[in-house]
Amino acid sequence: MTRYAVIGTPIAQSKSPAIHRMFAEQTKQDVQYEAIEVAADNFDSFVLDFFANGGGGLNVTVPHKERAYRIANQLEPLAEQAGAVNTLFQDAEGTLCGDNTDGVGLVRDIQANNGIAIECKNLLVIGAGGAVRGALVSLIEEKPATITLVNRTKEKAVDLKKIFPDLEIVNWGENANFDMIINATSVGLKKDDEFELNYTDLGSNKFFYDVIYNPKETNFLKKAKREGNQIENGKMMFIYQAHQAFTIWHKIMPEIDEETIELLDND
Ligand code: ATR
Repeated sequence: MTRYAVIGTPIAQSKSPAIHRMFAEQTKQDVQYEAIEVAADNFDSFVLDFFANGGGGLNVTVPHKERAYRIANQLEPLAEQAGAVNTLFQDAEGTLCGDNTDGVGLVRDIQANNGIAIECKNLLVIGAGGAVRGALVSLIEEKPATITLVNRTKEKAVDLKKIFPDLEIVNWGENANFDMIINATSVGLKKDDEFELNYTDLGSNKFFYDVIYNPKETNFLKKAKREGNQIENGKMMFIYQAHQAFTIWHKIMPEIDEETIELLDND
């Protein structure tokens, strides 16, 4: 039985073990998949020991995705461009490789699941943390007309422009003509989270996406819905990124059935 895990902190709430165990059962892979709390101080030694002891693969979540990028000895193109890794594995020669499946998950959800094209659209992305980098790489590949980024701490958004030169960085409220607004911050994970950005003026008949799926409707999405916008949470993005990671590790593509989706609905 080969060991796999998701590592991060906090990690107890992670649904990755449930999803990966279900995919493994479905495709008859003899694997063990756990959620393991790993603090920043132990990150490198944990990862190296894990693979030295025969571990098959790691998913990496908050706050370690940039650290995982640095520890990988070989980067797949999406991870390289994002400067962030959420999937670690070893190739046949034992080289530690990093990939990023977050953006693939996001784009698949927006386009295939919601039927909304990204090409030629004006996008507003909120946030400049670890969740944003993978998302931006894949969004840019779909050739939107523009991508604008806004973040509470503007300097962090400006830093991202060094990696993604086509981004437009704005202060809140500037240039409000967007077709799609994506919240990639951590605001809304906790019930009483309040945005320190005013987002009342983004209009109606737009598409609002929140990468958060628990709670199902963050205040950000609730407000957008009240104002007549189409909304979607990050549930399918999460499932699709797991699906992509599973496929990378096991070279086999599980089905995403109702049972898999329901796993994410149970709190
Ligand atoms: P992650 O890796 O999950 O993205 P992170 O790196 O801590 O976590 O980033 C969290 C994001 O949420 C950041 O963009 C952060 O803004 P800052 O760069 O200003 O910290 C954003 N964020 C967190 N709390 C916020 C709040 N109350 N209002 C607005 N943005 C917030």
